[in-house]
Amino acid sequence: MPTVVFHKNGEIYRDEVKDNTNLVVRAGIKQFPFPHLKYSCGMGKCATCTCKILSGAEHLAAPNWKEKKQLGEKLDQGYRLACQLWIHQDIELMQE
Ligand code: FES
Repeated sequence: MPTVVFHKNGEIYRDEVKDNTNLVVRAGIKQFPFPHLKYSCGMGKCATCTCKILSGAEHLAAPNWKEKKQLGEKLDQGYRLACQLWIHQDIELMQE
């Protein structure tokens, strides 16, 4: 099971999730890391869920067109849209 380490407001939340987990979906059903993960549309349209990937980015699928449109050059700085990520491996991420 992948371990998710989530940094938010100076706190660090750590939990295991099932393979193929979407963190925005889990926040929506009030599972980890609810209520800490900020999100809105869940569809890659608003960028509210933007997170910086601190480790494990190499295990994520390549950014899709929605992430490219919303994040632009922030993708090169390690940012992704949490609502567009399905977690298969350990990951550490931060939301500002
Ligand atoms: S929640 Fe809107 S882009 Fe992810």
